[in-house]
Amino acid sequence: MAIRFDYSNVMAENIGAEHGLSSANFEQLIPAGTEILKALRQKAENGSLGFYQLPNDTAGLADILNYAGVVKSRFENYVHIGIGGSALGPIALQTSLQDSYYNLSHKPKMFFPDNIDPDWLNDLLKQIDVSKTLFHVVSKSGSTAETAATMLYFMEFLKKKLGERFFQNLLFTTDPVKGLLNQIAREYPIQCFRIPSGVGGRFSVLSPVGLLSAAVAGIDIEGLLKGAREMAGICDHDDLMQNPAFLFAAIHTLYMQKGKNISVMMPYSNKLRDWADWYRQMWAESLGKKFDIDKNIIHVGQTPVKALGTTDQHSQVQLYVEGPNDKVISFLEVERFEQNGLLDNHFEYIDEFNYLKGKTLAELINAEKSATELALTNNQRPNLTFRFDRVDPYNVGAFTFLLQAATAFAGGLLKINAFDQPGVEEGKIATYALMGRKGYESKAEEIRNQLQKKTLFQI
Ligand code: PA5
Repeated sequence: MAIRFDYSNVMAENIGAEHGLSSANFEQLIPAGTEILKALRQKAENGSLGFYQLPNDTAGLADILNYAGVVKSRFENYVHIGIGGSALGPIALQTSLQDSYYNLSHKPKMFFPDNIDPDWLNDLLKQIDVSKTLFHVVSKSGSTAETAATMLYFMEFLKKKLGERFFQNLLFTTDPVKGLLNQIAREYPIQCFRIPSGVGGRFSVLSPVGLLSAAVAGIDIEGLLKGAREMAGICDHDDLMQNPAFLFAAIHTLYMQKGKNISVMMPYSNKLRDWADWYRQMWAESLGKKFDIDKNIIHVGQTPVKALGTTDQHSQVQLYVEGPNDKVISFLEVERFEQNGLLDNHFEYIDEFNYLKGKTLAELINAEKSATELALTNNQRPNLTFRFDRVDPYNVGAFTFLLQAATAFAGGLLKINAFDQPGVEEGKIATYALMGRKGYESKAEEIRNQLQKKTLFQI
């Protein structure tokens, strides 16, 4: 495996007993961890933990690659319509594994409008000819308001251009049977890819949700699945102290008990930046829960924060080093960048630049990561590092699987259901009510009464 996991800076030896963890802390969690691993294996086998199976689903790859070939030959633009788990993984795949300015020199151009800001969507509309654009609508439930509204927004223009042939520019990825997208696909011959029923939104990046757009952009999706498969084997390790998914989960749950309720993910790599965004959803939605599995009220969770090295050294790191010691910081570090040219001092009369002469930007970014790590460690701030030997499909696939498995372990250790999102559903229902959707009348009435109690302070 080409990702190394260094958690020495959470150990008491390095950051002291008050904020550090001991081997005994981990040992206490081993019996629970062993039970969780057993349960995860069972669920993976009976299909109820769908994301565990996705790396093995190589049979579906041929269809995805074939369809991606059609998209490349037929369309100038690809627009991915989805939100949350239906967008964050696909976006992170693009930004980590494709040229950062891909759209300036490639077709189809790739767009991921994952918000309903009308002006933002209108700006996109101005850039594309809808008749030469594939709209890939991704929604597990098929009913999320933002996704439906974005689809309907573009439909207006698509219908104007193509009339009844509009469906030729639509692709759906959704549940195998349920939901409104399936209802549409029964009326029109729209190609559909499926999200297996046991795979939840935020765990779906290695299904057609993420693989289709990746394949359209020429990303090696076989490599992604291979990395995930090999990581699945490592996360199945019986010796839990050799199992990175358990270790990441154990570290974070132990720190939650110590009142460190913030988990920062800080890639020192722009390519990996959006994985921190994806992690934010994974960790927040999976672990932020009111009830445990026995229905006791526990209000558990850890607030995930994304930061970017080195940029946020000039914004956040002062707080991380000297502010409240309430965070666990996970660095993502890259050993080998593609670009390794040497810097020169083009202003020889300025001696102060000479320390950069003969060095690479990669050396500088990694030295800065080490410097931040050192400052945190010297100030007893727990931190750990995932070190990628390089950013490639294999490592990215492995990393996504590791964090999904870690989330499942953390859910087990916290004794919660990591796979539901009742808080999100509550918001979805309130939105339907506020927008007058049929069947939500009593909820609308309840909200109207609630709104009457609001006090408006005029400034
Ligand atoms: O993880 C989840 O289940 C959610 O974040 C969903 O991905 C998000 O709400 C979008 O839902 P859907 O894919 O059903 O449109």
